[in-house]
Amino acid sequence: MSNARDHLFKIPFKQYSVPDWEHHKKLILDALPKEDYTDFFALKGKGLPSYISTVGDAIDPCMKDFSQTYPPGVFLSSMWYERSRKFDAHGPHNHGATGFSAILYVDFDQSEHESTVFYSPFNDPMNGDDMSFQPVVREGDLIVFPAMILHEGPMNMSEKERVIVSFNIMGEDVLTAYNSGKREGVLSQAK
Ligand SMILES: [Fe+2]
Repeated sequence: MSNARDHLFKIPFKQYSVPDWEHHKKLILDALPKEDYTDFFALKGKGLPSYISTVGDAIDPCMKDFSQTYPPGVFLSSMWYERSRKFDAHGPHNHGATGFSAILYVDFDQSEHESTVFYSPFNDPMNGDDMSFQPVVREGDLIVFPAMILHEGPMNMSEKERVIVSFNIMGEDVLTAYNSGKREGVLSQAK
């Protein structure tokens, strides 16, 4: 006897190393704002940030590979950065119900910084325990995961800054539906 399928559900996860990282790191750090912890809230309703083309050049080979798993066409629906200084942390959150999200580790010292921690949406069926996963990442790595997965950025205990760029990814069809809903919301508010 054998099962045709041995998992009811699986959670996709991709990890890439951006090629020619030292070159791209300098360009991205130069392009990012220097002052704030994040531009996430400042960008709300204003679209994509000015540094998207610089980040886009770096991640292009990785996104080409990722798009192979996402046939309708892949679009970046939002992008922001986080500059974590000592004792900064980003508590557990998700990026909404739809699409994928990604984190690029731009300024990250593997010996001093912790990577993102992910929490399973279901418990271990063997013992009921919560399950978490913390990938081993190096600077220049790009990870991609479903937007709905709970995750957190652990407190930075180092004197060194930890800088990441994060973005959300949607398929063409989903993005169209997502934006049409948003436009309708804006119009109805304007009346
Ligand atoms: Fe996040």
